Amino acid sequence: MAHLSTRVLTGITTTGTPHLGNYVGAIRPAIAASRETGVESFFFLADYHALIKCDDPARIERSRLEIAAAWLAAGLDVERVTFYRQSDVPEIPELTWLLTCVTAKGQMNRAHAYKAAADANVAAGEDVDAGITMGLYSYPILMAADILMFNAHRVPVGRDQIQHIEMARDVAQRFNHLFGAGRELFVLPQAEVEEDVATLPGLDGRKMSKSYDNTIPLFDGGAKALREAVARIVTDSRLPGEPKEPEGTALVTIFDAFADATERAAFRTALVNGLGWGEAKQRLVEQIERSVAPMRERYEALIAHPDRIEATLQAGAAKARAIARPLLDELRHAVGLRRMQAHPVAAVEVKAGAKTSAALAQFKQYREADGRFHFKLVGADGQVLIQSAGLAEGREAGRWVQQLKAGDATALDAAPIERGAASGYDRAAALAAIQAIAEQAAAQAAEASSKG
Ligand code: TRP
Repeated sequence: MAHLSTRVLTGITTTGTPHLGNYVGAIRPAIAASRETGVESFFFLADYHALIKCDDPARIERSRLEIAAAWLAAGLDVERVTFYRQSDVPEIPELTWLLTCVTAKGQMNRAHAYKAAADANVAAGEDVDAGITMGLYSYPILMAADILMFNAHRVPVGRDQIQHIEMARDVAQRFNHLFGAGRELFVLPQAEVEEDVATLPGLDGRKMSKSYDNTIPLFDGGAKALREAVARIVTDSRLPGEPKEPEGTALVTIFDAFADATERAAFRTALVNGLGWGEAKQRLVEQIERSVAPMRERYEALIAHPDRIEATLQAGAAKARAIARPLLDELRHAVGLRRMQAHPVAAVEVKAGAKTSAALAQFKQYREADGRFHFKLVGADGQVLIQSAGLAEGREAGRWVQQLKAGDATALDAAPIERGAASGYDRAAALAAIQAIAEQAAAQAAEASSKG
């Protein structure tokens, strides 16, 4: 899986309409980063994730269109980057299932989106899972599939998403370990939180966010809506002519996001010298418009031709699937979802990697009709390596299995097992098998402790 370039991937949940905060905090820096050399960027509309939060089809449809148009209008170069819809890549939900099968439920219990909802239910005296869907619960697994499907190295996200990237790393590691047979099927992704990208304040000075209802639209409603929103930015009550304190005001912070150093200094000087808030807001609108007006023109042209956006996204999906399909084929093979063949490949693999988990022998414990307890050790190829005698107690069988799993030759020779030619017992094979089990357990323990 060696790539010459670094793969950077991020998803945009398609609920809502893009606002200035999205542009400054996500769209603009992502597009700038995608122009760096040595970077291969993947940007996608996380519309399956949107379904978790929204059950209004019209809103889902509209939001996908607006967000796609916004990214394209802002200058995303779709020749250079891979820009697609999550829902156009069926390999992603398929991978989600493969990952779901190796994800610990306990870890999902701790995922913060689920935990917050569950805690709120408990606090309200409701059932812990009231109103919580499996979509919300499994959200981090779908997100892990988004990332691992393209073997992304870096994932730029907000702070609130770091936990999800760590979960993706964990599940990737577990999958590699279980099915990689020594290979790294998945790259372990790294969260990337941009420290210097300003989070834009909204009208009331808090972080600009749809959930605070304090946003300034990026394109929606045109220049008029922009002007009206800016007019509602909260300021203090100082009159024109009175000196203003520019630092820390929402108005100036938003201005800064669209200005160069000279313009920033000039705006501050004017405020200190008594520029009225009304006029300052007018200057802010002009400043924003300098960047946004040309984009808005492109945006409106795109929105008027959804078929063009559709074609762009389809082309993006084809590019994405050209990467996703071969990897998924490999993964299917790795977990055993293989073509049926006259000569099963399993026998070959046992030889190739006697120490890999795929080829490990397994203990089985069971009770016979006579009420006695047994255990046996079965090789990966189905051959019975150890067959125990009948024991009076299940716990006794369990104790022997534990000792044998430690790879202990003395225990092997003392164990109540059927030996001799008639039983087909092969001591060397049995010993090798239990030692392989013990070695793998030790390797897993070492890996777990090195992870802390
Ligand atoms: N959950 C992310 C958010 O709400 C969106 C997202 C979905 C994402 N899949 C992703 C981000 C994969 C990065 C990588 O912001």
